[in-house]
Amino acid sequence: MMWSRLQCIGCGKSWPLAEERYQCKECGDLLEVVYDLPVLSKQIDRSAWEKRRFGVWRYRELIPVGNNRTEITLGEGGTNLYECKRLGEELGLPHLYVKNEGENPTGSFKDRGMTVGVTRALEIGVRTVVCASTGNTSASLAAYTARAGLRCVVLIPTGKIAFGKLAQAMIHGALVVQVQGNFDEALNLVFQLCRRHKEAYLLNSVNPFRLEGQKTLAYEVWEQSMGTEPDVLVTPVGNAGNISAIWKGFSELNSLGFLEKLPRLFGVQAEGAAPIAESVKKGRKDIIMKDAPETIATAIRIGAPISWKKALRAIYGSNGGAEIVSDEEILTAQRLLARYEGLFVEPASASPIAALKKMLNAGMISRSDRIVCVATGHGLKDPDAVTHTYEPPLEIKAELSEIEKLLGVVEVPVR
Ligand code: F0G
Repeated sequence: MMWSRLQCIGCGKSWPLAEERYQCKECGDLLEVVYDLPVLSKQIDRSAWEKRRFGVWRYRELIPVGNNRTEITLGEGGTNLYECKRLGEELGLPHLYVKNEGENPTGSFKDRGMTVGVTRALEIGVRTVVCASTGNTSASLAAYTARAGLRCVVLIPTGKIAFGKLAQAMIHGALVVQVQGNFDEALNLVFQLCRRHKEAYLLNSVNPFRLEGQKTLAYEVWEQSMGTEPDVLVTPVGNAGNISAIWKGFSELNSLGFLEKLPRLFGVQAEGAAPIAESVKKGRKDIIMKDAPETIATAIRIGAPISWKKALRAIYGSNGGAEIVSDEEILTAQRLLARYEGLFVEPASASPIAALKKMLNAGMISRSDRIVCVATGHGLKDPDAVTHTYEPPLEIKAELSEIEKLLGVVEVPVR
């Protein structure tokens, strides 16, 4: 596309999209895809969007790869935005919504980025793609590369990712490598590998093309809440690509003149892995990395988030904020969402719900706000987080009297 280019978020230097790089050649900072939005706005026909499937590729004018035939797609995006009346009542928030990203093909929001990233990999002719992952990225990349016929190598921290995600990466035929250490160390290794071997294409969220897919979450929320656009959007933060992508999506809609108002963005991190939230709470413009991140929310067990600068830009630029939640608060929120709304999400994805009460009490949000929480991944990804926390099911003989006896004494909770 002539009207888009890669631009450094630090020094502002830009390159043609065709040039393959992840970081600025001048200053080493992160890159992003920028568009000539005034030109694009004349080419976008919103009624054409309405005729397309609701999902990532509906917005193809704002995605810098693919040509309507070459996309590697599994039908990603187009997830539901649920109004959560019962949970909202419990929390004292009458306008609460959940964007359920667990409905994506591999069960997480990562698919939005991978459909774009893997399409890009094919366009530039690489054969091998690589990522480091806390689980979902590897599951998604493994699926999309299988569909594209590309080789896939995923590096995961030894013994530290949820079982469902590992099974996904394995069944799709990725080379799954356990790295002794944490996610941050695995990502560092992937960087070294891709720097030395140009034929290995890096598909972590430092790759700006992935974020071009992930930003469509914002486009969808805008379409789904036309006329009642959110005041606040709350999302978990790990490596910090997604909050950056969501902000980019809303900002682009705003520049195109489509948006009534920009939402305030809030990032939530888990205690023990909260370098960005700790900084935001102090009003800092930099972050202090954490050496040994720890939380039950394995997806966001990250101490050195690569996209921290973009995340701070999203948070400060939207007049938003950040919150920190404990593992216990996360598990409680996971249960509340499951029992009040029928939505089963993985622990990391419950962190925005866990943060709401705290944010309300601290005056960061108000009761009248329209709030969208992003539920980033499906609960079945990490069943251990549930089965290890609950009593095992009761067991009886296969006799009617046994179940009758039980129903007489055991209270089945009214929810
Ligand atoms: N929620 C889930 C379920 C995730 O898997 C991740 C990230 C996040 C939230 C945070 O998103 O990194 O863009 O800030 N998972 C990555 C992975 C790191 O490897 O699957 P982020």
